[in-house]
Order: sequence, then C-alpha cells, then structure tokens
Amino acid sequence: MLFYMPTKLYYGKDIIFDHKEEIILGEKAIIVTGRNSAKITGALDDVITILNEYNISYIHYNEIGENPTYEMVIKGKNIAIENECDFVIAIGGGSPMDAGKAIAVLAANPELNPDDLFDMNNYDVALPIVTIPTTSGTGSEVTEYAVLTKPNGRKSGFKSNLIFPDVSYLDPRYMAKMNKELTLTTAVDALSHAVEGILSKKATIMSDMLARESISLIHEYLPKSLNDLENLEYREKLAIASSLAGIVIAQTGTILPHSLGYRITIHKGIRHGQATAIFLPFVAEEIDKVAPEKTKILKDIFGSLDNFYSFLKELGVYDFNINFSNEELDLFSQEVLNSSHVINTPGTYDKEKILEFYNNLIK
Ligand SMILES: [Fe+2]
Repeated sequence: MLFYMPTKLYYGKDIIFDHKEEIILGEKAIIVTGRNSAKITGALDDVITILNEYNISYIHYNEIGENPTYEMVIKGKNIAIENECDFVIAIGGGSPMDAGKAIAVLAANPELNPDDLFDMNNYDVALPIVTIPTTSGTGSEVTEYAVLTKPNGRKSGFKSNLIFPDVSYLDPRYMAKMNKELTLTTAVDALSHAVEGILSKKATIMSDMLARESISLIHEYLPKSLNDLENLEYREKLAIASSLAGIVIAQTGTILPHSLGYRITIHKGIRHGQATAIFLPFVAEEIDKVAPEKTKILKDIFGSLDNFYSFLKELGVYDFNINFSNEELDLFSQEVLNSSHVINTPGTYDKEKILEFYNNLIK
C-alpha cells in the first residue's frame, strides 16, 4: 500500500493571510482563473494583495471556461512563456485549477503540445503550482490529475506527480458565494470521488478511512447547506469533505461513473458532478453483486443502497429529462468500454450493461 499526497494543504477561514509567504513560489506568477469566480469570491483580491506586499509581479489570465480546451491552455502557456512567469496560481473551480496544471507543464516544456501531456514520460519538470479552490467538489487542489477537453470533444484526464499542487489554500469564505445549483453539483462531484474511491479495486485502508469521513460529512451537511447557503460552518464541512475525497482519488483514481458521466456532460450539457453522481447507485448495485464488502461503508452511512439512491433523488440530481439516439448510445458505450475507468471497477461490463446504465436515466 502506498499513500502519497505531497501537497501542503492549508485549511481554515482567512488561512491565506496566516501563511502568505508560502504563496511566493517564484519571481513572476501567472494567475489562472475563469471570468468571474476568482473575483466575486474575494480570492483574487487576497492573492493580489499578498503579491503586491512582496513585490511579486504577475499576469492575470482569466479566460478559462467550463471543461477547459486545448486552445485555452495553449493561450495560457504562451502568456506564461512570453512573460517569463515561473510559477502558477490557479484560483477557481476544477476548470481553472486543471487548466493551471496543464499550463504549468506546458510552460516549463515549450516544445510540448497538449496531446503530449497524456504521456507523463514526455516531461519531467513543471512550474510550481498554488491552487485556491472557490468551489467544493473537484478536489483538484490535492490531486495529480487534470481533465481537458480534446479537439474531438472527448474529456480526458492526465496524471503526473509533477502536477500535485505545491500549496493549496482551502478557505470556506471563498465558497460561500456558490448558488444552490453549483453547491449541489460540486458537492455531488466530491461525493462521487469518495464513493468511487471505496468501490475502486485500488481502495486501501487509508483511502477508505478518508472516504468514509467525506461521505458522512456530505450526507449530513449537504442538505443543510442547500437550505442555508451562506452558513460558513456548513461550507467548511463541505470544503473539507471535498478535499478528503480529492485525496481519496489521488490514491484510487475514479471508476465507471466518471467515465459514464463524461459523455453526458460533453454531449448533453449536464454538469460534471451531477452527470457522474447519477450513476453511483446503479454501479454500486452492480458491484454489490460481486464484491459486497466494497459497498459496506455506503450501507453503514445510508442504511442501505436503496436509501443512498433516495438521498440523491431527494437532492434533485435526477431532476432532468434526457434521451439518447442509437448512434449516441453506440458511441458512448464504445468510449466507456475503452476507458481506463472500467479496469478498476469490480465486476464485468459489456455493451449491454453500459446501455442499461444510460437507459436507467430515461423517464
Ligand atoms: Fe469529478
């Protein structure tokens, strides 16, 4: 068993000011963000205040959209190289953090293009990375993964120990601006990470321990948080649950629900966490038949797998209408069966089974 999580994770209200010198990982920063979230949460202002205090110059690249593309990270790479940036500060949800990680590798290896990121043998250096999450779901602040959308529309993750952030600051203040929908979809992404972690063939005692705590926190505090969005205590619990779940997938990786979900995010526009969480009960049911010990933590927390399904239903994650053409189902099932997620999912999966998972969603 190996447990590896080299990121220094600071956690708490105003934590960035208590450890401000540690954000300075070079002489010039590229700050990678989306259009709004870094600004409206106050995280960007805090970072700029600290950089100014230490006389560190920076370039702000704010063009990362949801599901970051090659174009977005190439632009970031070019900006970082032209301006001789030597470290990355990524602020936002999973998209800016993942894009920041890609930019950290590409800027340190100017000869590489985004396709080269998927083979970690292509590079052995990356710029240092600071991450500051403004959502609680992705866990990217504590993982060695980044997900990009390829020019053919497929979402693919790359993995390298070089993209574990060096320092991450987890401050619930930055999460209090999330609306109800974003709170829900990001929290159920974290839930997916923790649940997939326990179901994965790669689960260990350490990852199970963290996943159990993460799932319990989400079970207790997500419904409360949805009814009281500005409650910082609830936000704190969800933030830590999300980072715990991130640490889990840094050990175990994600499994089938993530692969099933990627297709409907790209082709049907359903947000990542929701698109993934809706498959958790179906896949858990399947795994329960061949490896019941894997679902024990879920049964301990929710009472039964049926209750787990009801919990998700009551949160509203199934409140959408969806249909698939035969061509889509052919494409999705082929892509899922070819994905690495299948290998670490206990049980046997063929086209028929994959189609059943998708058809379960049609009302
Ligand atoms: Fe995820």
